[in-house]
Amino acid sequence: VHLQGAPLVSPQEDEVPPDAGPGITSTLVLSVFTAVLGSLQCGYNIGVINAPQKVRDSPQHTFPSRGRRLPPGPRAGTGWLGGVGNGAGGTSPLASPLRKRECELSTLTTLWSLSVAIFSIGGMISSFLVGVISEWLGRKRAMIINNALAFLGGALMGLAKLGCSYEMMILGRFLIGAYSGLVSGLVPMYVGEISPTHLRGALGTLHQLALVIGILIAQVFGLDSLLGSPELWPLLLGLTVAPSALQLVLFPFCPESPRYLYIIRNKESKAKESLKRLTGRSDVSEALTEMKEEKRRMDMERKVSITQLFRCRIYRQPLLIAVVLQLSQQLSGINAIFYYSTSIFESAGLEQPVFATIGAGAINAAFTVVSLFLVERAGRRTLHLVGLAGMMVCAVVMTVALVYLDRVPAMSYISMVAIFGFVAFFEIGPGPIPWFIVAELFSQGPRPAAMAVAGGCNWTCNFIIGMAFQSMADACGPYVFLIFAALLLGFFLFTYFKVPETRGRTFDQIAAAFRRTPSLLDHEVKPSTELDCLGPDDNA
Ligand code: GLC
Repeated sequence: VHLQGAPLVSPQEDEVPPDAGPGITSTLVLSVFTAVLGSLQCGYNIGVINAPQKVRDSPQHTFPSRGRRLPPGPRAGTGWLGGVGNGAGGTSPLASPLRKRECELSTLTTLWSLSVAIFSIGGMISSFLVGVISEWLGRKRAMIINNALAFLGGALMGLAKLGCSYEMMILGRFLIGAYSGLVSGLVPMYVGEISPTHLRGALGTLHQLALVIGILIAQVFGLDSLLGSPELWPLLLGLTVAPSALQLVLFPFCPESPRYLYIIRNKESKAKESLKRLTGRSDVSEALTEMKEEKRRMDMERKVSITQLFRCRIYRQPLLIAVVLQLSQQLSGINAIFYYSTSIFESAGLEQPVFATIGAGAINAAFTVVSLFLVERAGRRTLHLVGLAGMMVCAVVMTVALVYLDRVPAMSYISMVAIFGFVAFFEIGPGPIPWFIVAELFSQGPRPAAMAVAGGCNWTCNFIIGMAFQSMADACGPYVFLIFAALLLGFFLFTYFKVPETRGRTFDQIAAAFRRTPSLLDHEVKPSTELDCLGPDDNA
């Protein structure tokens, strides 16, 4: 039916999107805006830890009564990137035996690195809970209650200096990581479920847009001259509670996902009410009919747990696609840039690496906007392919530039342009698309479990890159990005051969197409029913 990335449905069906029309109402705008405040918060916490590098390097300012008054010793790690990274997840390998005071400094660096890396661990753990929590509390209530983690985390980080406690800082980062893990599942799910079909991609991209704006705001606020100073960094970290506060004020005005209300909770009149508010139409029978059809199937398949998701043939193909797309996002090496850009720009011989980092953040945000406008025209698959190919070329150019840096001075600019290009291509496809396509690939029953698996894979790879990149860079020197170029080639080929286009299709049409072709891997079409993977106990 759609082998080798062919469309999911026939060309005739492709002509008329099911609910074509402008479809943007103030309630929809408000609901999406309110939800993606969580994404902004998540991005802010990815970017915020970049800034206080100087603060980290002078622990006596960071935790006055526990840091020793030491002249800053040599930074830990002496490899190609010259030591610690500049961002979340970046950890510094401990240096060889050091003199006592260098050792103390190094311990502080390690503690700081731990507070950086623990963010992804929090994300990893909580993202696996997305399914259970979103079904139990509902999408909206889950996002509201999730803010408790943000308030607690923000307060602990903001007060860590006052309390002279690294433990508070580390716990705070863990909680804000856990908050972010839930956000990365709940927001795309809610936005996907409330969006009209023809705008689902564009609105889905807003999760990533808010996230990258969050990164950029944190990079700018984190400048020494703003809040990145030894005195003001607690405010920088504590500011994270602001979007949560705004979200709490706005959420009461937003409706719950009608698909959740009707398909999961069986509350037809409430679902209708929510649909009317979101669409601005008094007659919502068309959307309701589509949901009814999905519910009819869902009543046959019931709720799908993570184990069932892996066991069922009908989910194998979309699950494989969802997971590989998450891998393509993280193993593209993007966070090697975001966590280590200042060190990379320094190695590339730039005089003001911090500003180049902010430049990368700005390009990141700008190209997410480009993707937002292209995604409903060019389609998810094409943009993902263009993004992966572009990143691969940039990774190769970057490598050549870094290798010839000593001989050709202009190479430092070429490497900077290549890094900017790498980031720009990332946001064209691999940045935003994996986040929202998972919600598209699965029907209501398996969606929460699928989001949990996809999110868990994403955060795990994020953590691995954060931990491993420094050692990879030490081992491979300027050739390190060739590893990512090779991985990008693999992901390009997978996308080309396996990923279908989902643009303009309803959730039900997408699920139906996968039911017709249970496994692309086997290249055989066996008749399958929704029940063939759920034992009697599963359905009880
Ligand atoms: C995506 C990734 C995240 C990365 C960001 C950069 O959202 O999931 O890990 O830091 O893009 O823009």
